[in-house]
Amino acid sequence: MAFLAVLLAALTATQVYGAFAPERRATCAGGQRVKNAECCAWFPVLEDIVPNMFGGECGDDAHGALRLTFHDAIGFSRSGGGGGGADGSIIVFNDTELMFNANAGLDDPIDTEAPFITKHKVTPGDFIQFAGAVSLSLCPGAPQVGFFMGRPPPKAPAPAPDGLVPEPFDSVSKILARMSDAGGFSPEEVVALLSSHSVAGADTIDPTIPGTPFDSTPSIMDTQVFIEVQLKGTLFPGPEPGQGEVESAVAGEMRLESDHLIARDSRTSCFWQEMAGNQSRMQQQFAAAFLKMSMIGHNPNSLIDCSDVIPAPPALPANAGPHLPPTLDQKDIQQACPTSAFPTFPVLPGPAETVPAIPQA
Ligand code: HEM
Repeated sequence: MAFLAVLLAALTATQVYGAFAPERRATCAGGQRVKNAECCAWFPVLEDIVPNMFGGECGDDAHGALRLTFHDAIGFSRSGGGGGGADGSIIVFNDTELMFNANAGLDDPIDTEAPFITKHKVTPGDFIQFAGAVSLSLCPGAPQVGFFMGRPPPKAPAPAPDGLVPEPFDSVSKILARMSDAGGFSPEEVVALLSSHSVAGADTIDPTIPGTPFDSTPSIMDTQVFIEVQLKGTLFPGPEPGQGEVESAVAGEMRLESDHLIARDSRTSCFWQEMAGNQSRMQQQFAAAFLKMSMIGHNPNSLIDCSDVIPAPPALPANAGPHLPPTLDQKDIQQACPTSAFPTFPVLPGPAETVPAIPQA
């Protein structure tokens, strides 16, 4: 029985990752070795977008590309109600989908990506997920995530309907139900996906302060967001709180109400706490959930594994250990997980910090 269970688990894992698809090993024109010859087409795209779309950094354009992967993919409903998932509809039908409140601000990454899609003659669905995977390769500390190609153009006329993208003012129940309906995500996987808010900020929640980061280290993918969101909130970074914003613990930093509640909800608080300071757990769980998200609306067996095109991200800098912001201490942590204590972290020395805004592209 135990053997059967292991075999079944292995089967599921390999099928999800497309390992049963026959591989056609190839050497690309630039000398790169890949499992599947079709993937060679992505190296020129990679070599173009890293310098020319992302400026080689984990900055505003990389953050926008990462957010776009989510807003395109989550437009899908297993229970009916439309949407094609990770199909590029957010670009092809942007006249419709950018009217949705939850997609505010996505005109920026769409305007950035559109010319590269035209230039490289790839489908928008593939490009959005490719660009998101490549954006992470520029963020120190991020995992090397997978990328599969083969998403056809979205079926016309099929924009995803409104109401499918979670809002920061939604309840935890509503967000968990939506994530389950869209992609079969468990509460633990939802927490894993929120690791993305480590390299993120808000432009539209409070439009007077664009680029306000969600943690103190928005250009590296560490676990600070899981630590800093668990601190008692005391201030708003702007003059007036926006809809879906609650008080943060650090000047210059914005806290989403949804992140705040997910960190404190009995269904998710222990998973949230387990991420704090646990870089390798965050990397593994995020990479798995992110790949699953990129396949929403598709049969994985119809896609081709091009993960070997995605570069490995740089490691975290040596001085980037998990910490509490200066002047705060463990007493400022709002314990939420009922079964174990939040881990302890050193306090950064020095005066209270004000986190600078993310420079806008
Ligand atoms: C599940 C519930 C989620 C909610 C409610 C949520 C909400 C938000 C909001 C309100 C913003 C700020 C938008 C703005 O004002 O500019 C944001 C930014 C962002 N989100 Fe999420 N998000 C969620 C999940 C995700 C997921 C799953 C990903 C990716 C895997 C993601 C990636 C990002 C990124 C990278 C940004 C920063 C964009 C930038 O700086 O330009 N989010 N999110």
